[in-house]
Amino acid sequence: MSVEVSEELRGPLVDTHGRVHRDLRISLTDVCNLRCTYCMPAEGVPWLARENILTTDELVRVAEIAAALGIVEVRLTGGEPLLRPDAVDVVARMAAIEGESGPLEVSMTTNALRLPTLAGPLKEAGLSRLNISLDTLDREVFKDLTRRDRFDDTLAGIEAAIEQGFAPIKLNTVAMRGVNDGEMTALLHFAVEKGLELRFIEQMPLDAGHIWSRPEMVTGEEILDALGKEFTLTEVAGRGAAPAERFLVDGGPRTVGVIRSVTRPFCGACDRVRLTADGQLRNCLFARTESDLAGLMRGGGSDDDIARLMHTCIAGKLPGHGIDEPGFLQPDRPMSAIGG
Ligand code: 5AD
Ligand code: SF4
Repeated sequence: MSVEVSEELRGPLVDTHGRVHRDLRISLTDVCNLRCTYCMPAEGVPWLARENILTTDELVRVAEIAAALGIVEVRLTGGEPLLRPDAVDVVARMAAIEGESGPLEVSMTTNALRLPTLAGPLKEAGLSRLNISLDTLDREVFKDLTRRDRFDDTLAGIEAAIEQGFAPIKLNTVAMRGVNDGEMTALLHFAVEKGLELRFIEQMPLDAGHIWSRPEMVTGEEILDALGKEFTLTEVAGRGAAPAERFLVDGGPRTVGVIRSVTRPFCGACDRVRLTADGQLRNCLFARTESDLAGLMRGGGSDDDIARLMHTCIAGKLPGHGIDEPGFLQPDRPMSAIGG
């Protein structure tokens, strides 16, 4: 496949606040084999109709057009991206797309459950980086939090990723009061020993069950205070568009990150745009509107039409999410349907 985008539509996806978008997050599926409380209710959520999920050819077409508009990194998310039967093929095809300065960099956020069989094929397909969700080191807590007894499989998935030599491997931990807030230092010891980069994430209001509450939320400051009792943390300068503030652990070389999405939003440097599994383009996790790329493609839209819709979507991006402001409204879709 090779797309044709007119010269005047090429060039960067810039919004009215001057932010240039280089990172496209694509949700490969909305289904998941876990039911994390901060994401889904126990019974799951109504899944998207299969026929509405973008085909791999459609995903590749979007990514090629995005590459012509300055996107250099594609992050594959879910639900759980590895539940898509052809996830490895998607990686291979994305990694073969030429961006402005070489092939697209393809990364993935996964819960690791399928990595024991897929880590090798993913590496071979050209996946460059992995982010793995790990919220606890306690099997019982894992079972309560994810509503599935799969702690051992998660650990096996992490080991498989290490064996394949993925670097860096990042671990994502959503901090939750009364759930894992007593495990911050234990999680960091684990990550340091394994040579992984741990990042703590402030919980955001993205759960389908609407149980998030600002006063209940564990703040980044609390996390840093807890870590500071056992580790010496030194801030690393030069964060760029990255959501994580990074700190050297005990002088380095290992680092730990804190993603303060709520208490210290980083929207001002945001370079991310998202595509849902059913082909809706979102200029923010918290956007209240979506641009219907799927409808345009399936209605016979040209590559230029799609490029134009991408520019329009980005042009309408708001300066920030406003989670911490009065009047904030949670997005209509849960995280599993938007993509992390
Ligand atoms: N708040 C913060 N992070 C979340 N994630 C999922 N839901 C939330 C939430 N409500 C993170 C998980 C996972 C990634 C896909 O998104 O840690 O690693
Ligand atoms: Fe699945 Fe990720 Fe949601 Fe957990 S946070 S239920 S792993 S999609």
